[in-house]
Amino acid sequence: MSIAIAIDGPAGAGKSSLSKAVAKELSFIYVDTGALYRTIGLSALRKGFDKNDTEQIVEMLNGIDVNLAFNDEGTQIVLLNGEDVSSYIRTPEVSMFASSVSAIPEVRGFLLDLQRGMAKKNNVIMDGRDIGTVVLPQAKIKIFLTASPETRAMRRYKENLEKGINCKYEDVLKDVNDRDFADSHREIAPLKPAKDSIIVDTSEYDFEGSKQLLLKVIKENM
Ligand code: DC
Repeated sequence: MSIAIAIDGPAGAGKSSLSKAVAKELSFIYVDTGALYRTIGLSALRKGFDKNDTEQIVEMLNGIDVNLAFNDEGTQIVLLNGEDVSSYIRTPEVSMFASSVSAIPEVRGFLLDLQRGMAKKNNVIMDGRDIGTVVLPQAKIKIFLTASPETRAMRRYKENLEKGINCKYEDVLKDVNDRDFADSHREIAPLKPAKDSIIVDTSEYDFEGSKQLLLKVIKENM
């Protein structure tokens, strides 16, 4: 039987980078489910749809194929109709589209089998918003990884500056708060800790400290 570790939590808590690092340490496959919602968001954006046009987006699902693959380094790539779109899904515009499409029940249903299939075949660390609550409710370990909005905004702000992206801290903080609100107030699969999840708050830790904390929690509960 394969082992699943679910890691949920708000945007910017460090879920992706920490899950990736911890998966490497444990020789598990890391599955970033946000990339799947981003891929559907990208598809809608490319077609010129309004991000709130649910009808058009649901209809679009009949004509698209979304899949996951892994490159030689074990890094996940997302495929939209066979095209590797991994490098197009991280823009702020795609983030907003991803947030909108993720509130559509048909979109969530469309991605469910793909996510469950990955966990059936492999030992996975899967990160997202509803992995412990909806996708893998029987996961061996469920972690809700979080940090204060200010900490998460400051991390993202610094990342942007390092990448040469000019921005104001206040705008990044507003973006973090807006996405938190949208992700936790939607009717379907709202962001919330599973009843049996372990809350891990990384506000006081740097990357290495957060990684060690996460590994400790996982090993204690394995
Ligand atoms: O983790 P991320 O920022 O890449 O996620 C992109 C969007 O997808 C975000 O608005 C939340 C949504 N999402 C979701 O609803 N369920 C998941 N399992 C993963 C992401």
